[in-house]
Amino acid sequence: MTKQIWTECPACNFREIMERPLAVCPKCGSNWLDARYDYESLRDRFADLIAERPFNLWRYWELLPLRDPDNILTMGEGGTPLLPATNLGLMLGRPNIFVKDERQGPTGSFKDRQAALAISVMKEQRITEAVVASTGNVAISYSAYSALAGIKLWTFLTSSVPADKMREVALYGSEVIKVTGTYDQTKQVAADFARRKGLHLDQGIKSFAAKESMKTVAFEIAEQLGRKLDGGIPIHGIGKTAERETKKRGVWRAPDWYFQAVSGGLGPIGVWKGFKELYDMGLVDRIPKLACIQSAGCAPMVHSFQRGLEVAEPVSNPQTVITTVATGNPGLAYTYLRARILENGGAFEAVSDGEGFRAMHVMAKMDGISMEPAAGLAFAGLFKMVSAGIIQPDDVVVVNCSGHTFPVEKHLLGDAWAQDVDVGAAPAQPTEEGLLTSLDSLDTRVQRIAIIEDNPDARRLLRRVLQARGEYQIDEAGGGREGIELVRRHHPDLVLLDLMMPEVDGFEVLDTIRADPELADTRIIVITAKTLTASERRRLSGQIELLLQKGSFLDDDLLEEILATLEDR
Ligand SMILES: Cc1ncc(COP(=O)(O)O)c(C=O)c1O
Ligand SMILES: [Zn+2]
Repeated sequence: MTKQIWTECPACNFREIMERPLAVCPKCGSNWLDARYDYESLRDRFADLIAERPFNLWRYWELLPLRDPDNILTMGEGGTPLLPATNLGLMLGRPNIFVKDERQGPTGSFKDRQAALAISVMKEQRITEAVVASTGNVAISYSAYSALAGIKLWTFLTSSVPADKMREVALYGSEVIKVTGTYDQTKQVAADFARRKGLHLDQGIKSFAAKESMKTVAFEIAEQLGRKLDGGIPIHGIGKTAERETKKRGVWRAPDWYFQAVSGGLGPIGVWKGFKELYDMGLVDRIPKLACIQSAGCAPMVHSFQRGLEVAEPVSNPQTVITTVATGNPGLAYTYLRARILENGGAFEAVSDGEGFRAMHVMAKMDGISMEPAAGLAFAGLFKMVSAGIIQPDDVVVVNCSGHTFPVEKHLLGDAWAQDVDVGAAPAQPTEEGLLTSLDSLDTRVQRIAIIEDNPDARRLLRRVLQARGEYQIDEAGGGREGIELVRRHHPDLVLLDLMMPEVDGFEVLDTIRADPELADTRIIVITAKTLTASERRRLSGQIELLLQKGSFLDDDLLEEILATLEDR
């Protein structure tokens, strides 16, 4: 498995065969260098070459900057699932949203890719002691791999990193130094320490290992989307010859958008380079637009982009509780990302911490994906860009999702997020019965809601929205006729009604209910995908509480409307 790796300087075009990682360009002194490989010899055989290898990060060996496979340190990094966000897609009217599930890395974040490669490269360099600055996840991941490699690691963390994360770093046997200051100051302290002690300082985004590791996110997405979408969605703008070619080697597909919460910018930079390499080798037909989402309290990239600046104006005092993304000075990473977004499309977008928490909650209760707040920001950015009409209904979207959670109950759930059952405190006689009574009281669903909807996915979504609140008794009907019977039988407090159904449609259901004196004052919310004509609007006017357009609201928007409607009685 010998391979050629070159070091290249984009600033001055310096190029030489890589013997070992360089910190700066020998010709111009720039600290932004890129790894290059023998793409020409790989382009026709890469897909076949790797086809039978295990689905993990190392499958892309020929395009990674490690020289000797004996130096690979592995704990199953990479090869994470690409999950369809089905309920989210239904709510937003965007059926092609996928979650790159980086929660499933060895320490739960996409930084495991970086750690696996960076620490393997350190091993190759015979480094036995190193220094790293981090907002949490990098320190955790580097610590795990350093343990495996037998490297002593000094981690410098901003003191606002949640205590649980710090303890995990210590558990791995790393030195933990809490720096009271911003992340940018923490990086400076770490650099000073490394220099004084003559220790290896991890160069983060400026090292080959970091950027190159993130390419594997792109490679995996392209392979996974190819398998998921082949035949499902037409491949736009790809000619017949190319189509036959891709069939032969297995189809690789790039999404239209890649979303990530951005701090230093490493993720999107590496992912972009990955897709660019695939594009240059003819394996994908496009490079996705990058959506770089920042917390509004620390959004130097967003603000600099809005002001047309080529060099980022740093934020000196970041105001976000989501420490993971608190890089105030992104340096060259911003300039680089800005250029990519100007040439290929994309966006810098800011969302509040609160919006990030809300998105996190939506994804957990609606699609069963519990993530960390930083990843919540990426989803909040997606919600915002869907509302703004920037994300089109047929766009294929991939969102990077990491999972290392910290306690967020207080941000999300209020005080009453759990109910108590105390077995010991139940009445002495008879114990069984006392416990059963207290178990009964856990379920106090008093209000009854009927869902009349022929599409099973939409029905499941509405049921899920109501279940997550836990207070409603839900009845479902898959058609108009059944629906009318259901309303007659149960007299629900509220009906959620679809309009377009075969045989008996929603209009007829509505007319029947309103004509029946027993049922006439039933509350009805219409949820429809149909664009209504003027006469249809007249038919509904005064007959229903509310008209909602499918694919245009999140679960808690709907719940608020339901609560308001029920309270109105
Ligand atoms: C979960 C998560 N999201 C986003 C980021 C920001 O990463 P980047 O360095 O790509 O800006 C991090 C960084 O640690 C992270 O852990
Ligand atoms: Zn140079």
